[in-house]
Amino acid sequence: RRHSSGSESEPEEESHSSEEEKEEQKEEIEKASDSGLNAAEKPEESIKKTATNQQAVPSATVCQTASNKPSCKPAVFIPVDRAPEIQEARLKLPILAEEQSIMEAINENPVVVICGETGSGKTTQVPQFLYEAGYTSSTGAIGITEPRRVAAVSMSQRVAKEMNLSRRVVSYQIRYEGNVTDETQIKFMTDGVLLKEIQKDFLLSKYKVVIIDEAHERSMYTDILIGLLSRIVPLREKKGLPLKLIIMSATLRVEDFTENKRLFSAVPPVIQVDARQFPVTIHFNKKTPLDDYSGECFRKVCKIHRMLPSGDDDKEESVEEIRKFKKSRKRKKAMTLPKIDLDNYSVIPVDEGDEDRDAETDDDVAGSDLDLDLGDADSEEDEKSDSSLPLYVLPLYSLLAPEKQAKVFRPPPPGTRLCVVATNVAETSLTIPGIKYVVDCGKVKKRFYDKITGVSSFRVTWTSQASANQRAGRAGRTEPGHCYRLYSSAVFMDFEQFSAPEITKRPVEDLILQMKALNIEKVINFPFPTPPPAEALAAAEELLIALGALKEPLMTGRLKEQQTAKLSCPISPLGRVMATFPVAPRYAKMLALSRQHDCLPYTITIVSAMTVRELFEEYDRPAVSEEETAKLKGKKARLLQMQRIWAGQGLLQKLGDLMVMLGAVGACEYAGCTPKFCEENGLRYKAMLEIRRLRGQLTTAVNSVCSDAGLYIDPKMKPPTEAQATYLRQIVLAGLGDHVARRAQAEELLDDKWKNAYKTALLDEPVFIHPSSILFKQLPEFVVYQEIVETTKLYMKGVSAVEPEWIPVLLPPYCHFGKPLENPPPSYCPETGRIRCHRPSVFYRVSWQLPAVEVD
Ligand code: CDP
Ligand code: MG
Repeated sequence: RRHSSGSESEPEEESHSSEEEKEEQKEEIEKASDSGLNAAEKPEESIKKTATNQQAVPSATVCQTASNKPSCKPAVFIPVDRAPEIQEARLKLPILAEEQSIMEAINENPVVVICGETGSGKTTQVPQFLYEAGYTSSTGAIGITEPRRVAAVSMSQRVAKEMNLSRRVVSYQIRYEGNVTDETQIKFMTDGVLLKEIQKDFLLSKYKVVIIDEAHERSMYTDILIGLLSRIVPLREKKGLPLKLIIMSATLRVEDFTENKRLFSAVPPVIQVDARQFPVTIHFNKKTPLDDYSGECFRKVCKIHRMLPSGDDDKEESVEEIRKFKKSRKRKKAMTLPKIDLDNYSVIPVDEGDEDRDAETDDDVAGSDLDLDLGDADSEEDEKSDSSLPLYVLPLYSLLAPEKQAKVFRPPPPGTRLCVVATNVAETSLTIPGIKYVVDCGKVKKRFYDKITGVSSFRVTWTSQASANQRAGRAGRTEPGHCYRLYSSAVFMDFEQFSAPEITKRPVEDLILQMKALNIEKVINFPFPTPPPAEALAAAEELLIALGALKEPLMTGRLKEQQTAKLSCPISPLGRVMATFPVAPRYAKMLALSRQHDCLPYTITIVSAMTVRELFEEYDRPAVSEEETAKLKGKKARLLQMQRIWAGQGLLQKLGDLMVMLGAVGACEYAGCTPKFCEENGLRYKAMLEIRRLRGQLTTAVNSVCSDAGLYIDPKMKPPTEAQATYLRQIVLAGLGDHVARRAQAEELLDDKWKNAYKTALLDEPVFIHPSSILFKQLPEFVVYQEIVETTKLYMKGVSAVEPEWIPVLLPPYCHFGKPLENPPPSYCPETGRIRCHRPSVFYRVSWQLPAVEVD
């Protein structure tokens, strides 16, 4: 059955959707991952090639079938017509010197690792080498994955320009956006996009080469792609349609890929590209500023601009946007108190006897101001800058519109000096030419996940040594440069060496769902470059089982066997639907349930609004004058009034904060979503635009999943009916099942701290409805919440009221039942005290998180 004749004919047309093929696929993956060996080592009786393929990649094909040949030079050379100045710039790139060895390694090996400093030309040049060597054709493309959208878009632009090819040929695809055509031969995409493509076509038959770029970033999808590709490559070889895998990485530490026996049976060759890097002098701060790192950055930039000669440009590494810099200027007077610096004991030698111009104390913040060219300049202090050129300041971050991002690559207007304020996207993904000074605040904004609740929040923390060194390296691309670190060397020594791979740090339920959709059941056996912690895998399976995305294991036998069974559950039909939505599984379940009663437009809006944080303006900030205090108070009153209106009447009100979200979005869209309407009604304009965008994207996604849903992308919508609002509450409950809370009961209320509090399934401590919630005063008996935030207390945000009798119906796995039953149903498990009841009947009295409720 393995070699069923039909499946080998024309790779492009191959559809892997039939159940039989899925079975086969699954068998193959499982076999491969169980043995940890290359499935392709088995002798193959029939290797079939199509004529088109033979012609397209002669070298590659020959290589695989006649592996004894010492070298397989590409037989085809596709000429590229580059502009002279492009060609000249290319020749300066270090990677050009390695073209021959790179191509030889690729011709002779299925998997190659290319390691080279950022800026050496990996991303822009390797696809061109492959193109010229005939690795693309009408039937096969080069796919390049990037962990960041910015990089995917801007690199495709750059490569198209360098090669003088149309964007129809060199294209990009990011989550919902792209310009891929039938002619596309070089395709840049985010790693998530390729993962979705694997779901549709496990063998990735439309690619001849897959390049995993920025592998050192260890993004979750990159890791999983490498694991999957380690299986796809031998499968493709077996089919006689070899696929080349190239892993590109900026920093070293590629051992996780090369020395991982579970990944590749033969250690892939590593090609090291030596970058032409000019020396960068590192200047540490004597002391480490505690909080105001953005103000500190600002001052440092001003100082560099005043005192140091121009490189081509200046650059600012900071996780904040320019706006914050303006704000920080007002704050700075408060922060200077001379202190002995305990950190200041180590001196780092300065390269090449350069005078450390920054030796003076960093505390002299007064007067280091400069009129940044930011429009509404508000510089009160005016010690005039010595520097004659104005600064031309550009932001650079992932969500910035592509055309604005492209600006950093263009020369600044004549008579100005460029200063780029960038997030860590400039650390490795993008190389801005001609940077001479880097100011590194040493911080990184990262998402953190609460181990218990899985709730994520962004926090600013110290970065790793590897990242700090990457940042510094950006100053020495075209001439010797300087890096100013806004922290002491002692602090640097305390940084972790490398950042831990993302996969080990976050909940993995979305990933596990995607893997299950690929029929990888024994996730625990998957060849992860670095496996996630076993508890994270177990928690993810648990949640997915509870959501109904995985088929529940039969709860017989011992607890241990049950646990093993739980770790290899197959995906359910519901899970398959959920896996197609580009949102987290909890939200995906809500979408999957929402075709009923025309709830989809509302669920899409709720999911979008929950994804975009902070819909409403924050008026509780400290004011500078009495006048402002009064103004803020007025605005807050207006917002509260509007929220009460948006919360609706009757049963709509029970939807609580989610109804307020719906009402706000609806009202805003009816008013045309203008900045004026938002300003007057306490809505954040940017958030509303983002919600509109997400709604459009999700609508498209839903339409493509259920072709007959026929949803219109019309931002306007009617308010839900009372019945719909009730369905919506059930839909939200079904998705956020582990986020149910009930009001404190009698025994808890003996303790004062439980006054007005709620008990959740996940926490022992009391939690409260957030004061900003519309349900703050109503205190419904049962609620479901979007997230818990911890400030002075644990607060629930995004709260809706739910009816207790819905819980056993919608969330049987979350119901514990009281004392052992006299006549237990077959699904009763004495060890866990749980009943797997899909149809709870009047006999079962629910007693744990629920008050006694009779259900029929
Ligand atoms: O991938 P890697 O970091 O090794 O280098 P790259 O991104 O391929 O960049 C190679 C060179 O192209 C760098 O010197 C960049 O400054 C330059 N480049 C550019 O000038 N404009 C772009 N839009 C992209 C890259
Ligand atoms: Mg790159």
